[in-house]
Amino acid sequence: MTAARSDTLVLFGASGDLAHKKIFPTLYAMFKRGRLNVPIIGVAKSNWTLDNLKDHAKDAVRAAGRYDETVFARFAAEMRYVDGDYRAAETFQALRGALNGAVRPLHYLAIPPSMFPAVVDGLGGAGIAKEARVVVEKPFGRDLASARALNDCLHSVFPEDAIFRIDHYLGKEPVQNLLYFRFANSFLEPIWNRHYVRSVQITMAESFGVVGRGRFYEEVGAIRDVIQNHLLQVVAILAMECPVSDNAAFVRDEKVKVFNAVRPLTPAELVRGQYRGYRAESGVAPDSDVETFAALRLYIDSWRWQGVPFLVRAGKSLPVTATEVTVDLVDPPQTVFAADKRTRADHYRFRLGPDVVIALGARAKQPGEAMQGEPTELKFVHQRGDEMDEYERLIGDAMVGDATLFARQDSAEAQWRIVEPILDGKAPVHEYEAGSWGPLQAADIAAGVGGWHDPMTLKPDGSLSSP
Ligand code: BG6
Repeated sequence: MTAARSDTLVLFGASGDLAHKKIFPTLYAMFKRGRLNVPIIGVAKSNWTLDNLKDHAKDAVRAAGRYDETVFARFAAEMRYVDGDYRAAETFQALRGALNGAVRPLHYLAIPPSMFPAVVDGLGGAGIAKEARVVVEKPFGRDLASARALNDCLHSVFPEDAIFRIDHYLGKEPVQNLLYFRFANSFLEPIWNRHYVRSVQITMAESFGVVGRGRFYEEVGAIRDVIQNHLLQVVAILAMECPVSDNAAFVRDEKVKVFNAVRPLTPAELVRGQYRGYRAESGVAPDSDVETFAALRLYIDSWRWQGVPFLVRAGKSLPVTATEVTVDLVDPPQTVFAADKRTRADHYRFRLGPDVVIALGARAKQPGEAMQGEPTELKFVHQRGDEMDEYERLIGDAMVGDATLFARQDSAEAQWRIVEPILDGKAPVHEYEAGSWGPLQAADIAAGVGGWHDPMTLKPDGSLSSP
């Protein structure tokens, strides 16, 4: 990809939580590696000075355990600050001044979506959007209509190829490896279809609750928070046809085809849950029926996947923190070895975090006289964790205009279209114990395919065990 590099990074929401938790530590890491050598302009309405911004960034880098005094001093020397109301034209005139002739800034909107229109108008009005790029964070709308409205707002000033919608899952090493593994090998292709795949399961489990994000979570719930975006993107990578090349447009074209082929969801294919204790979290309504767990079954009406159930499950306060995909293969046509206990179908397992695994599960004969088998796994990849922080990869890509790992407009809208029928909150919310695998009713979703595969927990020595 050879596009002009952005020559300044402008961070709206510089005094906010996301900037503190994620963006400053990431920018600092990029700077340290020599991957970021442009001015960084923080914008916020906090009555701050440049020194306040530097302190905020220092604190963020320290909290991330990355602080080095000399490096930070050089990093801080790149920082500028503009304080002002996002609705005021003067703020954008001040930003124009701070840009100091930069021609291709990257505007990072780490702000609530309700502020997007003001900022986008301000940038357009001040004439500092022309050659610029814009990065937006999720939540990208809360349903199809609001996502469309946001897109219209962005498009009023920025062309689609200048818009980078972050879904940080796409920047994860194991998620990229999933795409790579599928299309860099030929052995998968003959079996990667409805004839040999019995079902596909994706579980995103987190062993913690909403940890201080109760107010935010009340607005979203598990379906909007992680299923509409992260997990549907994983479904697309698993199910897509081979792109013509790794060019962003071709990869994104194939994903959209998958989204367009997903059969409309019905409430009967959904189970929602809420962990006991959620309603007592700060910022949560005492009678909230927002789901902290969701399990659903979807079908892709395509030549390749007709009739194959894709099960998707995500939840907070589950027994482990792990994201895992299991692709179960059909049983052999005949049971030749009577003593072979079919505990689990042959499968591919992709563990997307916290450690990274790609494995093929099969049965092999146990040593001894009897023709008795045991399950075994061949591991293609097993790493302790993700090498590069996903935000680092994504911001680096946006700086050079590579959109492969970002959601395109049609894709964002198609993803909303998939979940839209189940967003009305009509499916009952079942309570579950924190530390369990969600409400008992979730078993119904997987009853036809032999039940859910629960990811195991990663022990400090790198081995896996049941929680
Ligand atoms: C975020 C969600 O998008 O992804 C969080 O808002 C979730 O609720 C997080 O915990 C998980 O991402 P990761 O990279 O920490 O696995």
